Amino acid sequence: MASYCFLVFALCASQTLSITIESVPSADVGGVILTELETTVSLVCRSNRFEDEEAELVWLRNGAKVALKEGNRQGQSTVCITPVIHQDNGATFTCHMGGNASVEASVTLNVTYPPTLSGSEEVWVEDASPLFLQCDTFSNPPVSSVHWTFNGSTLDLLAGGFTIAEDGYYSRLSANKAEKSKHEGLYRCVADSPVYGIKSKDFLVTVTVFAEKTVKFPLMPIIAGVVVVCLTTILAIFSRWDRIVKCCK
Ligand SMILES: *[C@@H]1O[C@H](CO)[C@@H](O)[C@H](O)[C@H]1NC(C)=O
Ligand SMILES: *[C@@H]1O[C@H](CO)[C@@H](O)[C@H](O)[C@H]1NC(C)=O
Ligand SMILES: *[C@@H]1O[C@H](CO)[C@@H](O)[C@H](O)[C@H]1NC(C)=O
Repeated sequence: MASYCFLVFALCASQTLSITIESVPSADVGGVILTELETTVSLVCRSNRFEDEEAELVWLRNGAKVALKEGNRQGQSTVCITPVIHQDNGATFTCHMGGNASVEASVTLNVTYPPTLSGSEEVWVEDASPLFLQCDTFSNPPVSSVHWTFNGSTLDLLAGGFTIAEDGYYSRLSANKAEKSKHEGLYRCVADSPVYGIKSKDFLVTVTVFAEKTVKFPLMPIIAGVVVVCLTTILAIFSRWDRIVKCCK
């Protein structure tokens, strides 16, 4: 009796149309695949009706149909995401039966990436001009904290007249009027990522004062001079064109 029940159950189960997605890397129980930028994710969708020639499969990425090659639709269908990019974060891939969209399975990508903070940059700012430093804190998962240091100690916002603005993408440090005595030195932007740890970027700021400004190249007069020389040359060639052409013959 028990085996009979089991047999009936097995028959019913085999006849219920269903779809499964297998992935590398594999998804968690909630259907989320944890991955990183520049890697490859492969998804294989299978219906339990290999024998059914009509069992065509359809893949959607965020609701939009994915183009599949001939021979990659019946009974089993593979989709490869390579390389994984920022825009794949949160993207949902759904596979369903061609004839019945309610028979479906889906997975969602969680693409992690660190904030792009590294190295050091030299920054020159003219005396009394605004000082502006920016660091890229965009990452997944979001950084848990961002802070700035100046010459090795915590930045004194009040003393330096600094403002810090953060929007999840950038942390921006600014001061209205740069002063050599107050603002010259080493700034460091430090972000703490729950997955990637501490990342930082240095800015070596030099405040140029008036005396240094005067030794700068007098750019406008140089440009004017070059233009005059060019025009003169062109005119000279023009007026001697006949002779040049003759020479060339
Ligand atoms: C689609 O499949 C579901 C589940 O197997 C079923 O209940 C439903 O009747 C099917 N719809 C059509 C139009 O075949
Ligand atoms: C993505 O993975 C990271 C790292 O495990 C986790 O902190 C974050 O909450 C996940 N995000 C989503 C939307 O699942
Ligand atoms: C910060 O350090 C630099 C280099 O050591 C030094 O020239 C500058 O005066 C320091 N700035 C302040 C405000 O202490």
